[in-house]
Amino acid sequence: MDTYILAIESSCDETSVSIIKNGSVEISTVVLSQMDTHANYGGVVPEIASRMHIENITMVLEECLTKANMTMDDITAIAVTYGPGLIGSLLIGVMAAKTLAYIYNKPLVPVHHIAGHIYANNLVKEMQFPLIALVVSGGHTELVYMKDNYSFEFIGGTLDDAVGEAYDKVARVIGVSYPGGPNVDRLAYEGNDTYNLPLPLDDDSFNFSFSGLKSAVINLAHNEQQRGNEINKEDLACSFENRVVDILTKKTMRALQKYNVKNLVVAGGVSANRMLREKLTILCEKESINLTIPEIKYCTDNAAMIGAAGYFAYKLGRRADLTLNAKATDQLK
Ligand code: KG4
Ligand code: ZN
Repeated sequence: MDTYILAIESSCDETSVSIIKNGSVEISTVVLSQMDTHANYGGVVPEIASRMHIENITMVLEECLTKANMTMDDITAIAVTYGPGLIGSLLIGVMAAKTLAYIYNKPLVPVHHIAGHIYANNLVKEMQFPLIALVVSGGHTELVYMKDNYSFEFIGGTLDDAVGEAYDKVARVIGVSYPGGPNVDRLAYEGNDTYNLPLPLDDDSFNFSFSGLKSAVINLAHNEQQRGNEINKEDLACSFENRVVDILTKKTMRALQKYNVKNLVVAGGVSANRMLREKLTILCEKESINLTIPEIKYCTDNAAMIGAAGYFAYKLGRRADLTLNAKATDQLK
């Protein structure tokens, strides 16, 4: 019998509901982004985000069911992002999921946001194990080894800033509007790698550090400003992006080798990055690695990925009851 997961994601500034069949087939997804509102403030304002989730969640849910031509009777279980993320935002999704589970008497499946990002890859093609997941988002930069479904072994991560966070801060310094990551990425493509920036934490570990690189960009911009020189935004963006992509790909390829793994998946908002996608594609082809990167629309936050992860969590018997609470931080497990 087919399993239909109705999934809810509200961890940051996207209100999203999706229905996913058997962990891989998207029946319908609705994503309502608040980006335009937060752009006025140069970043996500948590209080505004949670209020907007309250206003929109019912509408998004109804639209998703209508698009799928389904009712709650057709749904097997309800999956929801319980964390990590903005606590006020998460609470709205969790409350909505608990209410639906209670009213319609459906199993409730808690999903870790990063598990969702990883399982976005199962919407492209069935994930093969063992695999290495490169997780690159606004809050995470990690290498994860997965022996099997829902088995997450942390092998390295950032010691300070997440890569998306570094993108967003660099965007501000070089005067690029919100959202920083995609806009710096676009600029980088018009520039050349001319600025002398360091390759960050180029050591034998699987850890990352982006605050030094970020500071190098900030100092460079300030120094040029004091000298009355104009920085070349395109070139600075390109130089920054080159260092980020170089270190991410270098350590990822080394992890694949060390763990003797032939499958790589990429997860999180920064997997939308053009240079990262291109470089990984070339390197993996050369090393005969089976690479999967989600479609751009599944890279940033959406409920389809929560539905894909939710399916496997459901099959493994993971359940929450009505005491489920949102968690701003939580380990991937
Ligand atoms: O996964 P995500 O949507 O939210 C979190 O869970 O954090 O990731 C958002 C992050 C932001 O920092 C955004 O600037 C970054 O992903 N991002 C990018 C690109 N698209 C989004 N960074 C670099 N290049 C991009 N094309
Ligand atoms: Zn995310």
